[in-house]
Amino acid sequence: MKLRVENINKTFINNKKEHKVLENINLDVNKGEFVSLLGPSGCGKTTLLTIIGGFQHSDEGEILLDGQVVKKPGVDRAFIFQNYALFPWKTVKENVLFPMKQQKIPKVQREAKLEELLSLCDLKGKENMYPHQLSGGMKQRVAIIRALACNPEVLLMDEPLGAVDFKMRQNLQEELENIWSKNKITAIMVTHDVDEAVYMSDRVVVMSRDKGKILENLKIDLERPRNRTTNKYEAYKSKLTNILSKCYEG
Ligand SMILES: Nc1ncnc2c1ncn2[C@@H]1O[C@H](COP(=O)(O)OP(=O)(O)O)[C@@H](O)[C@H]1O
Ligand SMILES: [Mg+2]
Repeated sequence: MKLRVENINKTFINNKKEHKVLENINLDVNKGEFVSLLGPSGCGKTTLLTIIGGFQHSDEGEILLDGQVVKKPGVDRAFIFQNYALFPWKTVKENVLFPMKQQKIPKVQREAKLEELLSLCDLKGKENMYPHQLSGGMKQRVAIIRALACNPEVLLMDEPLGAVDFKMRQNLQEELENIWSKNKITAIMVTHDVDEAVYMSDRVVVMSRDKGKILENLKIDLERPRNRTTNKYEAYKSKLTNILSKCYEG
């Protein structure tokens, strides 16, 4: 077991009214496993992922990484935020180099890694541009390679491909899968895209709007890389689509 989410509870108070977003959430993620959190907007996916990342605290419950309680962010968990979170005053190159400098990775290695990552995400020639000069999809790609720069053991991604167009999205899904499997990363990805969840995941966890309750914890038993045109692939998609449509009721 790499990561354990144990009995997480979280309540927000808005206008003096309590809103319980997560109640008794439990989830285990194995080393090297790719798990997706799928659910409607507002069901608590980002809240859960940021608690796992150590950016917010739960009211009750614990996050265990290799059996140790985590309470704050750490370099062991790379995080890709929903809204990119690039440094606006830094160029593409500076954004990607930043975490590597922080970790004191030697200059030669940093530069080599930068080149490798830039070509991976088709960002060559863009290294001296600033975030405001990039499209949403490009910013998202910069955020992805910045998270990968330090070879994280655990990668937490909040809708990492949401702003990327269709073709680039499929390319990046393949690339992410390659990087994940080559480096044996343990990954948790938030998405609301059923196809993306089936394509990428070993397991898909469906959360509901009712206190984040886990409605389904479905193992995706398909060979990799996945073939979107098989009946089995389609069957997984329709099963998840059915469960997801129930999340919107009540
Ligand atoms: N910091 C906060 N303060 C108050 N309410 C919040 C806060 N963060 C999230 N919420 C509320 O918690 C619920 C879940 O939000 P979120 O985790 O962002 O959902 P998702 O990522 O699934 O769309 C929403 O109703 C949201 O308004
Ligand atoms: Mg969210």
